Parts: sequence; structure tokens; C-alpha cells
Amino acid sequence: MGCMDHWHPVLAAKNLRQKPVGVRLNGRELVLFRDGRGQIGALDDCCVHRRMRLSLGSVSGGRLHCMYHGWSYDSQGNGESPATPKMYACAPHYDVCEKYDWLWVKPTDARAEFPALDVAGFEFAGTLYHEMEAPLEIVLDNFTEVEHTPTTHALLGYSIDRMPEVETKVESTANSVRVFNAGPQKAISPVVAAVFGIHTGDRFVDDWTTYFSPVYTVYDQYWNDEKTGAEKGIRWRNVVFFNPLDAERTGLVTFAFYKPDPQGGWRNWLTFKPGLLWFVDREIRLDQEMVSKLADKSPSIEGMKLSRFDRVLGLNRARLASVYRGTPAATDLVGQGSP
Ligand code: FES
Ligand SMILES: [Fe+2]
Repeated sequence: MGCMDHWHPVLAAKNLRQKPVGVRLNGRELVLFRDGRGQIGALDDCCVHRRMRLSLGSVSGGRLHCMYHGWSYDSQGNGESPATPKMYACAPHYDVCEKYDWLWVKPTDARAEFPALDVAGFEFAGTLYHEMEAPLEIVLDNFTEVEHTPTTHALLGYSIDRMPEVETKVESTANSVRVFNAGPQKAISPVVAAVFGIHTGDRFVDDWTTYFSPVYTVYDQYWNDEKTGAEKGIRWRNVVFFNPLDAERTGLVTFAFYKPDPQGGWRNWLTFKPGLLWFVDREIRLDQEMVSKLADKSPSIEGMKLSRFDRVLGLNRARLASVYRGTPAATDLVGQGSP
């Protein structure tokens, strides 16, 4: 399998209307369009004739028309030339599916399974999109450790003086890496505490698993009462997909889910969906800002002095290579870190 051979969420469905839209993924450019009969086409964004960008063209009669010499394509990539009607041309095309308000693509010949999200019992709050100015590895490093939460985050995380109490455990399989973190919730304002039904010092659990076909992490975030240990407040399940746009940039698609607090009462009115999305958006922007300031964004971990929270970095890299990119040379690293 290569890095394209997975189902990636590439465009919010609401952003595809009459006009074709170009997207970038793994350094490739694709064009998406609606053919007017409910089908969505996804083709390489490059006309097979003389390489014009198809995303600059237009859709009429259910076909995508190239702006240069007027060749046109259906959603399966079957092309026609108005000037040479007998000629057959075929543009490379992709399978498309619409799920969780996004459009997902994969090459037609790739056998990858659609990433079924385990979100039974959760409410879907909506989706967010962020672009990070760093390669996939560096972005994933940020999203899979909690040592930065005291300094970087507003709500979700631990306080710097109690970091030594935070437990972190790693478990891995050949194609997933789970990290379980638990420790005292950092200081939060009384308003935030009231809205979410939690307190500074409650045990905040951040338990996530990263998968690699495509690359995404499922975060389970919840709180246990500091004294009784009972679960309290809201529970979040955020799923973040990490799309490498090219070697320097990564697109993050977040699907936010939550379970309202069973004892929430009036509070559940306040944690309405736009409010939750606002909180998640703010936390991701804080990561975005922090990562943008790195002195060196090269994907290698060589030369880094790693902490007890960073065991996951090497495990993730090994699976990015073996599962996502299909680079067999890295498979010997995969066994490391298994329980
Ligand atoms: S380049 Fe597209 S029709 Fe000629
Ligand atoms: Fe973060």
C-alpha cells in the first residue's frame, strides 16, 4: 500500500456545489465535482490532453469541462474531445463516498477498508478543519502526547507542577498505537467548571488510539471525581484525521462527538453543539500556533532528547512507514513497545 491507498476525508461536502473544487493530498492534486445526477466525480486535477487544471473548468450537462480546449469528463473519468469525437480518453479517477458531512476519496484499485468510527451512543457535534505548517510526523507527535498540555492548552490537560503524577501507558499492535493518560485536571475557570460539570483537580483521562489506514486518532476524554473516582461531567470523543497535503503541510479534519452528562440538567443546554465545537477549535488552534514555531520541522526524531511521554513517537513513525506509506524497511520497528 502507498500513502494514497486509503480513504481520506478531503473536502467538506457543503463546499462542493456547482463549481469543481481542487484539493491536495500527499502532494497530488485532485478535482471533485458533482455531475448533477447525484454522483460525485474525483479525478486527477490535470487534463489528460495538455495538462490544464480541471478545477479551473466548469460543469455542464453533468460533465466537467476543461477550460483549455473544451474536453469533458464524466464522474468516472470518461473523456470526450469535441474536436475529435471518435477519440477515447480516460482520466485517472477515484472512488468517492460522503460520510459525516465530508467527501472521502480513495483510488479505485485500492482495497483499503473505510475507517469505521466507533461512535455508537455519542452525539455528532460537527466537523472542523485546520491546516498545520508541519509534516505529518511532527503534527502527529504534537497530537499524541500530553506533556505540552500545561503550556499549550486552555482546558484539556494537566498542570505543570503536577505533571510528575500523570500516568502514561502505551500499548501497540502492528497497526495501532494506544496511549492512556490520567492525572489531575489543570486549573480551569469557575465558568468552564460549571458548564462542563468538572473541577480543577478531578482526574482527567485522555485515552486515545491512533490508526494508520488512513492516519487518524480517536480521543476519549472524560473526568473522574477527585474524591469518589466516579465518572462525571461530559464525555468527548474526537476523531482527528491527519492528511499530509505535501511534505511541509498537514490538513486536520476533526469529527467531534460527545455524550452529554447524565446528571447535567441545565448544563447540557450550555454544552450545545456550536459551543463544543468552539472549545475543540480553540484547543486545536493552540496546537497549530505552538507547532508553527518549531525551529526544525524535519520528520526525523534523530537527535531529540525524548521524555517518558515520547515513547509513542517512534511507534507512530514505524507504523506510518509500514502501514500508511507501505515502506517495508521500517517493519522491524513495529514490534517495539508492545505490552
Ligand atoms: S488541456 Fe484540457 S482540453 Fe486541452
Ligand atoms: Fe495539543
